[in-house]
Amino acid sequence: MELKELVGLKAAEYIKDGMTVGLGTGSTAYYFVKEIGRRVNEEGLKITGVTTSIQTKELAESLGIPLKSVDEVSCIDITVDGADEISEDFQGIKGGGGALLFEKIVADNSKKVIWIVDESKMVKHLGAFPLPVEVVCYGSIQLFNKFNEKGYNPEFRKTATGDYYLTDEKNNIIDLHLGEILDPKALAEELIHLTGVVEHGLFLDCVDIVLVGTKDGVKVIEAKR
Ligand code: 5RP
Repeated sequence: MELKELVGLKAAEYIKDGMTVGLGTGSTAYYFVKEIGRRVNEEGLKITGVTTSIQTKELAESLGIPLKSVDEVSCIDITVDGADEISEDFQGIKGGGGALLFEKIVADNSKKVIWIVDESKMVKHLGAFPLPVEVVCYGSIQLFNKFNEKGYNPEFRKTATGDYYLTDEKNNIIDLHLGEILDPKALAEELIHLTGVVEHGLFLDCVDIVLVGTKDGVKVIEAKR
């Protein structure tokens, strides 16, 4: 079994009847959502899902998982999502799949957050993975130039056909090729205060449990936050 599938199945074990569940986005979260769909249909599991992207909404609907929007629930019991990088102190980069804004809103409104990754995502310091920054389209070239002047090696995310990538909220994404992020909190603070920045992919002090898929099985790590 693929490591992504292994952790997706393991994460589904945390989900019990009556829960409101945040459904993450990406190729690892896919296996979690599929398993929740299977349990809803085959075992009669009763949950309400809150999705983190249009892509996950379509998947969950196709599987018959009952859904509500984030604004229709009082809170979310558990959110299970993937991640692009997780540092030794359990800070994360997310948004490789472009869903960082909805993912952060759902995570911020969750009692418990579980990240599911394969071991290649576990790193010492964040930053080898390009940091996604979601920006409004208006003035995005000005922001790009600012990032360039700061030496952040920005790159507009583009589609396979060369168009500017648009998020579910119809914003652009600028990926910052930073190499190494030694002070993620300072960077997060700087980015969120730039006019035109909607959200960034630094997910800090956000996760409770990390499930890491390894060739020897799933490692369960309780993160202190
Ligand atoms: C999407 C995300 C994903 O969770 C992240 O990119 C990991 O994806 P994958 O499991 O496909 O590697 O943040 O915005």
